[in-house]
Amino acid sequence: MSDVQYLRSLLKAHPDFPKKGIVFLDIFPILRDPVAFETLITHFVHHITSDVIPRTHSKKIDVVVGLDARGFLLGPIIAMRLGAAFVPVRKQGKLPGECVSATYEKEYGSDSFEMQADAIKPGQNVIIIDDLIATGGSAKAAGELVAKQGGNTLKYLFIIELTFLKGSASLDAPVYSIVQED
Ligand code: ADE
Repeated sequence: MSDVQYLRSLLKAHPDFPKKGIVFLDIFPILRDPVAFETLITHFVHHITSDVIPRTHSKKIDVVVGLDARGFLLGPIIAMRLGAAFVPVRKQGKLPGECVSATYEKEYGSDSFEMQADAIKPGQNVIIIDDLIATGGSAKAAGELVAKQGGNTLKYLFIIELTFLKGSASLDAPVYSIVQED
């Protein structure tokens, strides 16, 4: 079985969660299994550093940006493996000090994301990570926060991509997802 098949086999679908009509894909069975978690992280790091992706492999990744909340479970580990900084993007009002903010549309109304204003230096190479891309609204807002600070987003990384929602089309850099659901 390939790494991708192995990781996919551990995802658990929860119909009608958190509300009717949504099939929630749970990544936590991967994190519960140390071999699977190691496989996941190594798969991402190999993808980022591998020479099959010219956009990232020849460049030093300076910063890994993780999205609130499940991006916080992946980003710091990948950052340490790459020798990069980790920077969190959080919901408005959670981060101390001066922040930059960006608004994004959710299913009902809008929400704001923030990043500390001194977190990224102009010209730094950044990758953005979360567990899942649906409509791409939150990832797009994270990309805007990186751009506001002069960072250069090289890639967006997700475990799961809900391809039918076409979220990657709204992003300013290529997307890599391990599992695609359509
Ligand atoms: N976030 C948005 N849609 C989701 C889904 N189907 N499963 C898990 N997380 C999600």
